[in-house]
Amino acid sequence: MVHAMKNSKLRIGLIGAGRWARMAHIHGWLRDPRCELVVLCDTKLDVARQAASEYGVSEFSDNWQNVTGRRDLDIIDICTPSQTHYQISKASIENGKHVLCEKPIAYDYTDTSYLANMARQKGLKTKLGFTFRYTPAMRYAKHLISSGFIGEPYIFNGYEQNSQFLDPNTPLRTSQVKTEKPGLNVSSLEGYGAPIIDISNWWMNTPYTAVIGTMRNFVPERAIRGLSGYHKVNIDDASIFMAEYQNGGIGSIQTSYVTIGNFPGVEARIYGKEGAIIVRTVLEFGIPEIIRTASPNKVEFKQIEIPPQFYPPDYVLGENMNHTWLSNLVSNFVDEIEVPTEKNEGNFEDGARVQEIINAVELSFEQRRWVNLPLPTKLECA
Ligand SMILES: NC(=O)c1ccc[n+]([C@@H]2O[C@H](COP(=O)([O-])OP(=O)(O)OC[C@H]3O[C@@H](n4cnc5c(N)ncnc54)[C@H](O)[C@@H]3O)[C@@H](O)[C@H]2O)c1
Repeated sequence: MVHAMKNSKLRIGLIGAGRWARMAHIHGWLRDPRCELVVLCDTKLDVARQAASEYGVSEFSDNWQNVTGRRDLDIIDICTPSQTHYQISKASIENGKHVLCEKPIAYDYTDTSYLANMARQKGLKTKLGFTFRYTPAMRYAKHLISSGFIGEPYIFNGYEQNSQFLDPNTPLRTSQVKTEKPGLNVSSLEGYGAPIIDISNWWMNTPYTAVIGTMRNFVPERAIRGLSGYHKVNIDDASIFMAEYQNGGIGSIQTSYVTIGNFPGVEARIYGKEGAIIVRTVLEFGIPEIIRTASPNKVEFKQIEIPPQFYPPDYVLGENMNHTWLSNLVSNFVDEIEVPTEKNEGNFEDGARVQEIINAVELSFEQRRWVNLPLPTKLECA
């Protein structure tokens, strides 16, 4: 890998210095000794300035076009609202940058695929903010699956419980409020379903061949960030779907804004011929995640220790879980960029596959039928 600046660290420009960037992304970059976070950019200059001063980043900007066009940066990290991801990612790739972008890249999977191809042709690495792939328990589970612990995978069950939006006074972000369709618009399935669908792809390691799903709205009027009063919000605040996989396996996924339980609320279960694994990434009584396993001879699920290699090298017990997970994500991305390798997990292509499944579940609900995957592709992309 030739760095933008000779004999230097990888240089990063981060775009969108809001809540999630401060809670998670910035900490990942600051922690990795192979990286230098060079510039923070936000359309609100004060936000960029304040974050730069708080985290000791030398430069700030309010112009993402200038940042993506800089020749002295290697990686662009995009933490802006979802509607802007496609445009900023496209410009970054066109300018020869590796890109980490929050999900989703686009609401239509073919647009995400288009950028994945563009990056691949240019020899650039991409990564989605699929945070839950990088939790120590999820990574250890994947390691066990790859080592043959469960044998042939039969069944995947995924849950995304999250009750923060049970209360209509908790404001939705504008990106969560879609209104294009007269019927239900996809929201929880996309925002909260994406991570667990990604885990299902990653763990089952076989393509989805068909889905059938349903969606509901339980809270018809809600507060929206930046607006006063309540608004009719015709979105899915819960969805459930069933899946069939190419290896003959089957699965189910539930995603929701209104199911009681603590955040982040991700639970993944996989059952195979030789063993079964449950990971709960749910902050409960101070513990952010647990992994439990069982086998045909020991059918009582038992909690197991996560080995230290699945944590950041300088991990401190009890540290903020978002810092741990983003540190793992950043470290994995830097490995993929620094070492000459084809490896690039959780990339835009994986993002396109997740979005395609979401689009298929939406179609299944609208047409009340099973929908086969892959979906027919659009001929032209933006
Ligand atoms: N992976 C996860 O677990 C996870 C968790 C939370 C949020 N997210 C995602 O992260 C993204 C950001 O969410 P957030 O909660 O931080 O939102 P936020 O509104 O707090 O922050 C977004 C920031 O981007 C800035 N911005 C908007 N357009 C811009 C542009 N064109 N150029 C530069 N700056 C721009 C805004 O001024 C704001 O400061 C969203 O896509 C969200 O879905 C992911």
